[in-house]
Amino acid sequence: MSIAGYLMKEHAFINNYLDKVQMGVQMFYWGDRLPGLFFKRMVEFSDNFISLYHHVKEEEVLFPILFEKLSGRIDGEYQRFHEQHIQANECLSSIDKLSTELDQMDVRSSVEIYKLASMYISYLRSHMRQENQIYFPWIDRYFSKSIQEDILAEMRSEQEKLGKELLIKCKKGLSEMILMIEQKYNNRYQSVFGSLKNRNPGFGLI
Ligand SMILES: [Fe+2]
Ligand SMILES: [Fe+2]
Repeated sequence: MSIAGYLMKEHAFINNYLDKVQMGVQMFYWGDRLPGLFFKRMVEFSDNFISLYHHVKEEEVLFPILFEKLSGRIDGEYQRFHEQHIQANECLSSIDKLSTELDQMDVRSSVEIYKLASMYISYLRSHMRQENQIYFPWIDRYFSKSIQEDILAEMRSEQEKLGKELLIKCKKGLSEMILMIEQKYNNRYQSVFGSLKNRNPGFGLI
């Protein structure tokens, strides 16, 4: 598998997670209040899968080599790109704080959590689009096949260091989020979201 193929498969898994977050948060906003646990699982998935499992491969293996190769040309652009992580993480830590008081939450805090989650989703979606469409195509352009194989081997070794349990935990957390949505899901949402697609969160991930 190519480096881009490997990372885009993980992006597909993250997009599956974001679809569920979007669905759950929208239902929450319309009054079908999900338990605070939904938001706890949301934060855990982000910390474990996105920040650890996925970003380690990009931020610590691929992008440092790629951006070094292009240094000077895209410094400001990389800075802005990198700041999206900081903005997404700021949203996430506010969501984490709010979710602990969810059971006593007033309308204002519900609106706040909806706004934060919507911002978080849009930062991540645009970040991944940028990676898929702009940065990943540079891999073939700037690296020989043998360098690409070395990068892929390093990404795999970083993943092995984290252990298989982490991925199992992430899939389990996402399954729990889907279950919480399913418990509130009814005909009202069928017409807005269609069926609950991708119930199996495994998504053929390595
Ligand atoms: Fe990234
Ligand atoms: Fe990514």
